[in-house]
Amino acid sequence: MVSSLGQIAPFALGTPHSAAMPLQAFLTGLDQLAQAGQSAFSQSADAAALEAARVEFLGAKSGRLKAAQKGLGTVPGPDKPAAGKRFNEVKMLLEAALTEAQERLRGTDSAESAEPFDPTLPGGREFKEGRHPVAPGHLHPLTQTIEELKDIMGRLGFTVADGPEVEDEWHNFEALNIPKSHPARDPLENFYLATAGVGNAGPMLLRSQTSTVQIRVMEKQPPPVRIISLGRVYRPDDADATHYPMFHQIEGLLVDRNVTMADLKSVLRLFAASFLGHDVHIRFRPSFFPFTEPSVEVDMAWETIGGKTRYVEMGGAGMVDPNVLRAVGYDPEEVTGFAFGLGVERVCARRHGVADIREFYRNDVRFLSQF
Ligand code: PHE
Repeated sequence: MVSSLGQIAPFALGTPHSAAMPLQAFLTGLDQLAQAGQSAFSQSADAAALEAARVEFLGAKSGRLKAAQKGLGTVPGPDKPAAGKRFNEVKMLLEAALTEAQERLRGTDSAESAEPFDPTLPGGREFKEGRHPVAPGHLHPLTQTIEELKDIMGRLGFTVADGPEVEDEWHNFEALNIPKSHPARDPLENFYLATAGVGNAGPMLLRSQTSTVQIRVMEKQPPPVRIISLGRVYRPDDADATHYPMFHQIEGLLVDRNVTMADLKSVLRLFAASFLGHDVHIRFRPSFFPFTEPSVEVDMAWETIGGKTRYVEMGGAGMVDPNVLRAVGYDPEEVTGFAFGLGVERVCARRHGVADIREFYRNDVRFLSQF
């Protein structure tokens, strides 16, 4: 008996060897064991040292953890669950420390250090244990908004379509009924690229609107059409609280028989109410876009102060111009449609009360972590 008691001596520090070990002494011994083992593993400079430490602490026959397990048997009955729980924790802790040390040494081993290291992976053990030494990030508020808008419009039956950010003049202007003489085509109003398109695509530019995707979709399929498209657009605007040279739009297009302006307003109102979580007043202001007739600017109520409501423009909308339908081979006598294009930054800012859209691009974690 003496020899086995001798083995559990580290757990009975300060207490005389006896058949029954008080819980406290057992726990203290475990903590010391955990500390000693962790530092032995983390300080092992090579594989041989680590193996020696492994045998000392985790050896199946006479390792110190094994000895502690025997000590567990001498803890009084009522204290056993608590002692056992802590024992298991220490065991897992030591095993994790061993794994970590093995990984560390493997990293320094020349044969295997050639393995690519992926710095984007979350830290191993801390991450699994729910401790985040480096806080993991999350989706950018604009990306969150885009995902949510897709979801809302999906429920209204709109599927997502995509288009390129580098566009030709046909899709960005011509097919949208924007003739060469139109001021929107001024080179100073656009980011034209120095390189021409492939084949006879002509001059190329960064798309100034997602309405390009309307054309791309209608060229490919017969009506009915019910799509949205979300993505970046570019305009040489000076940055201010509501403008930025690059921003995101959500484009919607519905073409079918008997589509009216009432459908447009209903969809926009449902859309805004779903996104903002409450009914929101939408205001249409008569406007002009070459590709819709009639055309409106879409405003959303932003705030009401002293009985006076302030509206902020979210984008444009209207009934698809017959010339656009003809440009893609649709018959304007057969089908009608509505289209809208809203600024994602503005919609997102409206929801969260962000006063300046430039915040979205500053990448200040104090701002971003609020979403
Ligand atoms: N493309 C327009 C813009 O960027 C918005 C719009 C989209 C207007 C669809 C009408 C219909 O300003």
